[in-house]
Amino acid sequence: MIDRLIVTTLAAHHKIGPNSPLPLGISYTVSMTSPSHITEHQRQYQLAPGSWDERVVLITGATGGLGSVLSHAFAKAGATVVLMGRHRKRLEAIYDELVAAGAKEPAMIEQDFTETTPEILQNTADIVEQTFSRLDALVHTAATLGELTPLQVTDDSSWRKTFDVNLHAARDLTMACLPLLSKTGNASVLFTLDDKPGAYWGGYGVSKAALKTLMHVFADENDNVLDENNVPKVAINGIQPGPMRTRLRRRAFSGELEHETPLAIEQLGTFLYLLDRVDKTACGQCWQETNP
Ligand SMILES: NC(=O)c1ccc[n+]([C@@H]2O[C@H](COP(=O)([O-])OP(=O)(O)OC[C@H]3O[C@@H](n4cnc5c(N)ncnc54)[C@H](OP(=O)(O)O)[C@@H]3O)[C@@H](O)[C@H]2O)c1
Repeated sequence: MIDRLIVTTLAAHHKIGPNSPLPLGISYTVSMTSPSHITEHQRQYQLAPGSWDERVVLITGATGGLGSVLSHAFAKAGATVVLMGRHRKRLEAIYDELVAAGAKEPAMIEQDFTETTPEILQNTADIVEQTFSRLDALVHTAATLGELTPLQVTDDSSWRKTFDVNLHAARDLTMACLPLLSKTGNASVLFTLDDKPGAYWGGYGVSKAALKTLMHVFADENDNVLDENNVPKVAINGIQPGPMRTRLRRRAFSGELEHETPLAIEQLGTFLYLLDRVDKTACGQCWQETNP
């Protein structure tokens, strides 16, 4: 019988403390608009075995197409992976896969982002700190499509839930984890973005656009917190991957043939490159595939 560490964030014990206020007159170096194009080197990047032996990564949407392959990649490199998802059974399935593959014992955090609050996510960050004393990377992959309908007929509650999952939970969890990430140093936060400004993309398209701006705002507010090498203690970036054959993609493009869309594993390289902080100065950038 495998021993499981299950952390269910049911109760909030702590209030969020404000981050240090932004010094007035700070000058920003982060590029706010132009996307950074993914290079072949980044696309092919892999983590060296054992290179994350002492490190901890928290992945939201760990039960999804992208989140699960990211979890495997970090576990293979020796990381302790904190799997965050909304369904216990799906979490247990990925947990079992990692353990069977010889990973360090992962942790599971069961949380539906439509039912969360800043206090609950602060509690999540506190539990990670109490359990592991560090956090090296926070990767946001959780997302919902909501309703792909004209705005006029979109159900209001579904619109708000889409924002709760795609935007509010990412904001709250990032705010809650930043102090621990800063304390750990050489850390990163990565947001998974998408660019869907057209008709019927509704709450998904709008919340993903807001998420990109949120990434830039977080990066700007934190890029002045430097380590002894004068690089940001926490690199905050976004990636807009190309199409991936996942449940989300299948729902959005139900007529698409399987072989027409690559698997999520083919998009991993750039995520790993940024989270491994190969280029320590990369911060506040939206990395995107040339043909998303
Ligand atoms: N697939 C693509 O072509 C594509 C392209 C561009 C960007 N992206 C982005 O890539 C990221 C990963 O998506 P994916 O393609 O891997 O899709 P996916 O397989 O559907 O994964 C989405 C993840 O989000 C979780 N999630 C959904 N609603 C949630 C909620 N209410 N509370 C907590 N978690 C919730 C899902 O949990 P369950 O497992 O329980 O459903 C799943 O783990 C997303 O941010 C997406 O916007 C995807």
